[in-house]
Amino acid sequence: MRKIRFDFNNMFGFSVGSTHGVADADIRSLKNGIARAHSHLRRVLAGKTNRVNLGLEWAMLPYQDPRTIQAIQRLGNEIAAKFDNVISLGIGGSYLGLKAAQDALAPAYYNEFPSGRKGRPRIYFEGNNLDPETLSVLLKNLDPKKTFVVVISKSGETTETKAAFLLVQRWLKRRVGARYGRQVVAVTDPSSGTLRSIVKAESAADPKSFRSLPLLKGVGGRYSEFNMGLLHLAVIGIDINEVLAGARSMARRCSSPGLFKNPAYLYAALAVIQYRRKRKPITILMPFSEGLKSTADWYCQLLAESTGKKFARKVVIKPSGLEQWVPDKSSVKNVGRTPIATRGTNDLHSVQQNNIEGENDKVVTFIRVEKFSHDLRIPRNAGFLSGKYYGRLLSLAQEATEWALVREKRPNCAIIMPEVSAFHWGELIYFFEMATACEGELLGINAFDQPGVEGYKNYMYYKLRKPGLPPDVAALIRQHPLRKKPSLVI
Ligand code: PA5
Repeated sequence: MRKIRFDFNNMFGFSVGSTHGVADADIRSLKNGIARAHSHLRRVLAGKTNRVNLGLEWAMLPYQDPRTIQAIQRLGNEIAAKFDNVISLGIGGSYLGLKAAQDALAPAYYNEFPSGRKGRPRIYFEGNNLDPETLSVLLKNLDPKKTFVVVISKSGETTETKAAFLLVQRWLKRRVGARYGRQVVAVTDPSSGTLRSIVKAESAADPKSFRSLPLLKGVGGRYSEFNMGLLHLAVIGIDINEVLAGARSMARRCSSPGLFKNPAYLYAALAVIQYRRKRKPITILMPFSEGLKSTADWYCQLLAESTGKKFARKVVIKPSGLEQWVPDKSSVKNVGRTPIATRGTNDLHSVQQNNIEGENDKVVTFIRVEKFSHDLRIPRNAGFLSGKYYGRLLSLAQEATEWALVREKRPNCAIIMPEVSAFHWGELIYFFEMATACEGELLGINAFDQPGVEGYKNYMYYKLRKPGLPPDVAALIRQHPLRKKPSLVI
């Protein structure tokens, strides 16, 4: 089986010059940091309690019990056989991985054409915004009797998902009646949260109602595609085992201590050198594939929420030997590269102008696909394009973009996928997860929490008078109102 390959040539000085390229001395200076990151990650990953407490259980998801996978695949097939539509509710980590998987692995225009879907349901993602337009149109047009609902929220408390679920629940109940809960599966924490309480109450009254899949402890939303995303893969007819086999293959490669053998470590090391020493705070992910654009969106969340942090991480070793990570409030870091998702060739006629001639403050990561499942040949008598394959033109455009960047001394690298298959996509996702974990180690922050997200939530809760908001949080909001000068609203 061929594997994903990584081409890091254009990150180095011999390609893009010494001001913007990495030198051997840069690598040498980070070797100890990588060795420390490796031994720390391995130590944490070796023990289940540490893994779960610190949020690294995701690393074990490729090794799930085959019986669990079979049961999920069966449930997915059952939903697919009975329903025309699935509404999938969730946001952030409870949405982006699913969308990425569908766009990468299901046939293009999946919802539009039944032949591509092979009779499986159309999927509508909702609950990922509070914009009323899309959900209104959807609920006006779908037939509730032919629609299944999957509601995904690890916490079971997220406003966007909750609000959408309340509307969808009323819509289903009105048209389907008392047994509407048989058309709902909830994917949520096994014990806590409002969604879990609803599941318990509904399924106690009717065991076929509100079936649920537990989210595993110690797996954060953005690292959970191989947990919360599995039912969705099963519904759209993707072989989960293939995805997990790819992830396992990458997990093996990413367990090597050798910097030049471990793609996740090398990617993270070069990114941190570029960020810290070469002043490149922006990272642009540019798959040359329409289907992988959503994977770039998923990576944006993974990197931004994981590494964009205010405080350094303090590792406390408890008497039991277990670790605890706490924010070190005496060490303000405000670190994290800014990710931007683009796609070739579409964005060569857009942000690429800035990549080439704007500030030299970014690193571009391409994803190049070597073989497409469908290719097209341009008709003859069409000048220089005559008889050329679309896939070949796309690869050439990627190579040309690489050349144009190198000419302007802009560092870049390429991830080379033999094809966009379930196996290689599984490899890709695990690679990014491990690279992000390693980047977190090198930056000295906690890559598995997201305290910054609380600010907007608390403000909304305060304004909506949600019970239980801590008094100090309410006081902070009162003391710091938004200041608006009328003269500046024009
Ligand atoms: O990565 C994360 O933890 C977040 O992006 C969450 O996935 C997101 O906030 C949604 O949370 P929940 O699944 O609890 O509704």
